[in-house]
Amino acid sequence: MTAHTHAYRDPILTLNNVSIAFHNEPILRDINAQVLDVTRPNMRQGQVVGFYGRSGIGKSVLCRIMAGLVAPGTGTVEVGLAQQSVTPGMVGFVQQRYPLFEHRTLHDNLLVAAQRKHAPAAARQHVDAYLERFGLAPHRRKYPALLSGGQRQRAAIAQQLLCSDHLILLDEPFSGLDVAMIDEVKKIIVEVTTMDELNTVIIVSHDIVTTTALADRLWLLGYEHDAAGALVPGATISPQHQYNLAEMGLAWHENVEAEPEFAQFVEHIKQEIRGS
Ligand SMILES: Nc1ncnc2c1ncn2[C@@H]1O[C@H](COP(=O)(O)OP(=O)(O)OP(=O)(O)O)[C@@H](O)[C@H]1O
Ligand SMILES: [Mg+2]
Repeated sequence: MTAHTHAYRDPILTLNNVSIAFHNEPILRDINAQVLDVTRPNMRQGQVVGFYGRSGIGKSVLCRIMAGLVAPGTGTVEVGLAQQSVTPGMVGFVQQRYPLFEHRTLHDNLLVAAQRKHAPAAARQHVDAYLERFGLAPHRRKYPALLSGGQRQRAAIAQQLLCSDHLILLDEPFSGLDVAMIDEVKKIIVEVTTMDELNTVIIVSHDIVTTTALADRLWLLGYEHDAAGALVPGATISPQHQYNLAEMGLAWHENVEAEPEFAQFVEHIKQEIRGS
């Protein structure tokens, strides 16, 4: 497939030598990775990063570090065009389980989030707009316990978009969803990343096909081996496990899943994950 014309501008997220250990056990080691603002002619094009790795390898831990909720043992995380050190609230984070305030209605859950960034009148307007866009307007008076899994998830995504600046982490957004809901969440992700040039979504997922089809960049968290072939403790995202799908011609194609090149690449990624 031919690559769409694109270029890169300033960094939106920079991970500099990020490492962390729990009880002296290294979990993440020397992670260096960057997301740059990708541009396409006459389009608003945000960024989508697919983030893979075996279960238990440290993806959710790295998300908490990127969201500023956990400080890394060493290294730094810088976000936004100003490349500021991340602090809680700068990065939206839809966790593997999406917590909402159970004693507030859906509308009020979103309002609390929106008021962290906007004045009250503007916050209300934003909430109404998001309820519409996410197909949640009919459920605005419901308490979270009454929402379906998919509705709850869309609410959690809307909530994070309402209160964060451009960068949002989705930890396992497709798990537990039926096929129609997966399509809906895919649509929301595409919508979010065409809403603003700087919007950036990092998707942690074991659903390689769905996520790769959405992404323009992939990160694979795995273990490296030393010269003697022994496993180096602590997972990292090595340079050969950072894929630029835009350059490979695999980004921004509708129905890319049907292309043989895409299927081949997905097989390669799965093989790399198995071997890491
Ligand atoms: N606060 C903590 N204290 C000690 N160990 C922790 C802590 N948080 C995470 N871990 C450990 O770090 C490792 C990585 O966990 P993490 O949740 O990041 O995995 P993951 O890659 O997200 O896996 P999955 O795909 O199953 O969600 C696990 O071994 C986990 O037990
Ligand atoms: Mg996880």
